[in-house]
Amino acid sequence: MSRPADRILVALDVSDFETAFRLFASLTDHVGGFKVGKELFVAAGFHTDGRDFIDRLVEQECNVFLDMKFHDIPNTVAGAVRAATRAGVWMLNVHASGGREMMRAAVQAAHETSTRLGKKPPLVVAVTVLTSLNTQDLHEIGLVGTPEESVLRLSVLAKDCGVDGVVASAQEAAAIKRECGADFLVVSPGIRPAGGDPGDQKRLSTPGNAVRCGCDYLVIGRPITQAKDPVQAAVDIAAEIAAAASR
Ligand code: C5P
Repeated sequence: MSRPADRILVALDVSDFETAFRLFASLTDHVGGFKVGKELFVAAGFHTDGRDFIDRLVEQECNVFLDMKFHDIPNTVAGAVRAATRAGVWMLNVHASGGREMMRAAVQAAHETSTRLGKKPPLVVAVTVLTSLNTQDLHEIGLVGTPEESVLRLSVLAKDCGVDGVVASAQEAAAIKRECGADFLVVSPGIRPAGGDPGDQKRLSTPGNAVRCGCDYLVIGRPITQAKDPVQAAVDIAAEIAAAASR
């Protein structure tokens, strides 16, 4: 990561390949990578003349974050991680609430497959608590305590399983770094420039605040992809990151 803009991972949450590729082509020089999540993967992953969207991005040496949030039995997750590693993704994620054995299986699958292929392993990060959930939502699903308490408990477990970092809100980033160390990556969605529409996100932060809190990567979707001028939106966010990082 050398430029402030490299900390921006654009969430390509669109449902067709053409729009996704257009966003990729216009933004690729202005951001650090692209997140392919469930919407695009399910909608567009199946129909690009046999070469799926991820192959196209990897071919162009783009950092692809495969955001499928794997949450299944260890054997199934390991198989999915092996496939993602073969596809050449740069980062992938699993749910920390899938437990110790599942996270260990994911890390082991990534390392064994990349060693066999002679390439760098993908970064494996664990989703702690979705940024669309607040304390009340957690209580409804039987998780007592605040989001921060759950995030910290899951981060410590994830670190113990050998994952490279966690996905969490910027609001928890400083505490995660304190508990798990500066090298443990914090990848944060729920980013909104000041005054931005929160949409379904509940644990929010501005780009500048996220950087000051210690987030390594900012996952940003709608504030860029739905902006009138996505490139300008990315450039403005990169400037805010640069200003915050230089303080
Ligand atoms: O459009 P917006 O900036 O809210 O997009 C955030 C992206 O980050 C979405 O693709 C969402 O799936 C993803 N994400 C999230 N919260 C998590 C993990 C991933 O919002 N904990």
